[in-house]
Amino acid sequence: MASAKDYDAAARKIRELGPEPPPGTLDTRRLVHLATLAASSHNSQPWKFRIERDRITVLPDYTRRMPVIDTDDSQLFHSLGCAVENLVQAAAAQGYDAEASYSAAVDGVVVNLERSAWAKAGDLYAAIPARRCVRKVYDGHPLGRAELAKLTGIGRGGRSQTLILVTDAAKEAVAEFVTQGNALQLTDRAFRRELAAWMRFNHGEALRRGDGRSARATGRLVPLPGLPARLMTKQIFDPESQSTRDAKQIRSSAGIAVFVAGEQDKATWVDVGRACQRFALQATALDIRTAFINQPIKTKALQSQFEEWLQLKGERSMLMLRFGHGPKAPFSLRRPLDDVIVAA
Ligand SMILES: Cc1cc2nc3c(=O)[nH]c(=O)nc-3n(C[C@H](O)[C@H](O)[C@H](O)COP(=O)(O)O)c2cc1C
Repeated sequence: MASAKDYDAAARKIRELGPEPPPGTLDTRRLVHLATLAASSHNSQPWKFRIERDRITVLPDYTRRMPVIDTDDSQLFHSLGCAVENLVQAAAAQGYDAEASYSAAVDGVVVNLERSAWAKAGDLYAAIPARRCVRKVYDGHPLGRAELAKLTGIGRGGRSQTLILVTDAAKEAVAEFVTQGNALQLTDRAFRRELAAWMRFNHGEALRRGDGRSARATGRLVPLPGLPARLMTKQIFDPESQSTRDAKQIRSSAGIAVFVAGEQDKATWVDVGRACQRFALQATALDIRTAFINQPIKTKALQSQFEEWLQLKGERSMLMLRFGHGPKAPFSLRRPLDDVIVAA
């Protein structure tokens, strides 16, 4: 039977990148490797990469979509945006400018790579293998002014805006919205069934699949046999205990970042994913933790009330992260590179 030690060794190996290529040498396989370390909805990794000489196209893998929580595929395209942001940062480290844009013709994000004397590795690049979601209680302290300024600046760009909330009143209000979201989501059978399909309830299951939300990375679940666990989702995903945990974690955070956008299309959803990943990389570079709290946004019945509270004018809320200093957490797994690279 696989142990936590086996799991951690595999997670570490996934993040071993080998020596940096000499400056100016384009190593596209390495770029894809770094892209796959990005966040994705339920760690579904809904991406495929087509490599050409100086171009990588990031394509959606619709076999990995989530019809219950993600009816319009917006989360799938946010996930592609997260991978694209890693790719862009990694290309700079190889001395290449990366121009990324969504193309309706190929239904994917085309990333054109061009040698540049100015492109070089930055803090965000170095943070790629260290970034992870930390679903734990943070230290409860506010961030310093310089840290907050860096995070606020990094969230800007493309079609996405980032709102930063740091007051206790705002955190309380968000915790209340998250509680309402949990009550709606976790009492919905279809939602629970979809979530359970992406849960990896024990280390063996997580290692075999290389995707999904593992017991180890999620933090709170003790490893369980997969089949009985899937029949007990009502007991396992209990809204009250989830909300108690979430409220404590939100109160312990230094702040909350809400990613919003005006348009609703695939290009915009990609930009939102890019902004969110950039924010998480900048946080990691500053030794700040992040975790998603999307319940008020991904619950149709709550989203409008939440946006009214945020006083949005014509924009929609798309993703939400809490952030703050705190402990580290185990990494999640990834599928082998050969599974996500498709022929040109
Ligand atoms: C679009 C999107 C939506 C997500 N939604 C949630 C969420 O609602 N709750 C949560 O705990 N994590 C959420 N995540 C985080 C993923 O579960 C996480 O990125 C994935 O498990 C991989 O783990 P890592 O980010 O630690 O590498 C989301 C990530 C993305 C990109």
